[in-house]
Order: sequence, then C-alpha cells, then structure tokens
Amino acid sequence: MDSIIEEVRGCSQCALSTTRTNTVPGVGALDAPIVFVGEGPGADEDRQGEPFVGAAGKLLTKMIESIGYKRSEIYIANVVKCRPPGNRNPQPDEIAACQDYLYRQLECIHPKIIMALGKFSIALLTGHDGPVGRARGRVFMWRGVPVIATYHPAYYLRQPAQKRHAWNDLLLLNKTLEQKVEDMDSHSKVPQKRQ
Ligand code: URA
Ligand code: SF4
Repeated sequence: MDSIIEEVRGCSQCALSTTRTNTVPGVGALDAPIVFVGEGPGADEDRQGEPFVGAAGKLLTKMIESIGYKRSEIYIANVVKCRPPGNRNPQPDEIAACQDYLYRQLECIHPKIIMALGKFSIALLTGHDGPVGRARGRVFMWRGVPVIATYHPAYYLRQPAQKRHAWNDLLLLNKTLEQKVEDMDSHSKVPQKRQ
C-alpha cells in the first residue's frame, strides 16, 4: 500500500494533476473488512490530502458508525485521487487513468465487502451504468468481493428525506457481510463439529 500511495503522490497521468493541491490516495485500516469508495476529492479533501473530511465525510462517518465500526477500522478511497476543478464530474479519460490505483488498493486490502458511493464508483466497480436507484438492493461482485451500491453521501445531504435509503443499503451490507463470515466459518469447520 505504501508504494501505491507513493505513486499516487507523484502521479501526473491525467490533467487533474495540474490543478490539484494534494493527492488524496485513501485512508484507513489495511485489514479493513469494508472499503467505501467515493467519487473524487472535494475542496476540503484537496486541501488536507484525506478523503471524506468535509460535510459529506461527516455523514459518511455517521454511516460507518451506524453499523458499529470506527472510521479507523475501515478503508476509504475514491475513484479519482485528485480533485476535479469546481467539483465537476470526473471525465472518462481521468477515471481510466486512475482506476488501477483503486484496483490495486482493493487487491491489497482484500476486504470482505465494498460499498460503492454514487454513480461513478458504482459504474467502475459493477459495470452498472444506469440510475443509482436501480443498482441499490443488489449484490454485485468485483473480483469475488461483494459490492453494495448506495447514493453518494453528498446526495443524502441535499435530499435528507432519502437518508432512509442509506440505512436500508447499510442493512444489506451488514447482512451480506454476516452471511459471508458465516459461509467462511462453516467451510473451516471439521465435519464432526457440525453434527
Ligand atoms: N466526495 C467524494 O466522493 N470523495 C471525497 O473524498 C469527498 C467527497
Ligand atoms: Fe494520477 Fe489519478 Fe491524480 Fe489523474 S487523478 S493525476 S491518474 S492520481
């Protein structure tokens, strides 16, 4: 992970490198059971070099804590590691230039589950290209790791009435995670123990 982060810090593979203040590679535990993947840094993140530290980040922290984890126990990353100017959407060529960093981070952590926040993260990790609403409630797979989709925290801030969707998606995440842990436990038990 250190070498990935070092590469990101020095990266100039796309035009976002010319407007960023700091790169925002990712933060959290290397043995995290869950990785949350956002879109790209905003102004606060660009200033501090850490993902989800602004208003949307405060909500994400609440979402994480609502399922019983500390922010430091999970991992948080973005599709693009440098801020798109004026918070515009990341462009396809920028996503293409940056995506291997995220893939390598995910391979390195090998989480039990991934939560994709918003349409760019969902599209990259699941291939689902339509509205976020149609990706919700399903369990996708990224290289053998389940992926749960939800709206971006910034959307929940703009549309507080939709926050119940976040709660439902987190319940699905928890259920899928527990199911996975149960499967792993039953595989590791010797037959006698099961009888
Ligand atoms: N929004 C994102 O998608 N990522 C961040 O790091 C902050 C806001
Ligand atoms: Fe490199 Fe990604 Fe930053 Fe583009 S957004 S310069 S690919 S780290």
